[in-house]
Amino acid sequence: MESRPITLLTGAGSGIGRGFALAMAQLGNRVIITDIDQSSAESVAAEVIVAGGLAQARQFDVTDGEAARGLVQGLVDRYGRIDHLFANAGVLGPTDFWEIRPEDWAAVLGVNISGAAIICQLVAAQMKKQRRGRIILTASYNGVRVDKHVIPYRVSKAGLLMFTKCLALVMAPYDVTVNAICPGVTLTPLQQAYAQALADQRGISLDDYLDERRSVIPMGELTTTADLNALARFLVSDEARLITGQSIAVDGGVMASS
Ligand SMILES: NC(=O)c1ccc[n+]([C@@H]2O[C@H](COP(=O)([O-])OP(=O)(O)OC[C@H]3O[C@@H](n4cnc5c(N)ncnc54)[C@H](O)[C@@H]3O)[C@@H](O)[C@H]2O)c1
Repeated sequence: MESRPITLLTGAGSGIGRGFALAMAQLGNRVIITDIDQSSAESVAAEVIVAGGLAQARQFDVTDGEAARGLVQGLVDRYGRIDHLFANAGVLGPTDFWEIRPEDWAAVLGVNISGAAIICQLVAAQMKKQRRGRIILTASYNGVRVDKHVIPYRVSKAGLLMFTKCLALVMAPYDVTVNAICPGVTLTPLQQAYAQALADQRGISLDDYLDERRSVIPMGELTTTADLNALARFLVSDEARLITGQSIAVDGGVMASS
């Protein structure tokens, strides 16, 4: 039986999920790094191992329910339990409302809501048996903030905030907490591509565009993965045992002012 905590992460081959994986490995956890992109999952696992941690990479598309079942069963067979789940995978979808195609709704909601909910349900069933566990979903201030860009994405993150609260209620009797981390603007590949596209559209530089973004953040700063990791470490700690159903923003005040 594995003595170290087992941490399963989705969409952990890049950006915020990679950050969570490295932070959990630094705590001494065995991290199971999954991503739809096998090679990025492998490269993050290699980073963890080079730093002296324990990691395993798995290709996993969160929209594939059968694969989710196999992944969770495989981990339970091998390690006997799952201590933490980071349901982090997410896609942005179309920016412009008029360019949304019918299939874009299913694509964005399919990854960001259904994909998160499927793996959460399977892991929650195991945590219910263990009577212990921590589930952390990556939502966004965009689930609260109204704007005319990335509307399917906003709708998906709003849904995820509701899912977080409902699942927290379901899992409360079993000592399993469920919380959402809501990152602010974090310069990951996803955010970089979005920011560049909007900057190009307006004919301004990426730096000028990011300065504009900073100017509407009450604290005037972008979020870093280190800022997000600090909250993740707290949420998996014993000190956070009674914190559940919460959506906690690490965004310099954007969500609070929305
Ligand atoms: N970067 C930001 O500013 C920001 C702000 C708020 C919320 N978020 C959220 O943070 C999470 C991580 O985003 P990021 O900025 O690190 O983006 P990212 O693009 O750097 O990383 C997302 C990862 O998810 C993976 N992925 C995409 N579809 C998948 C699928 N179907 N199955 C499994 N993996 C899949 C991608 O391959 C990628 O490695 C997302 O849920 C995103 O909505 C990001």
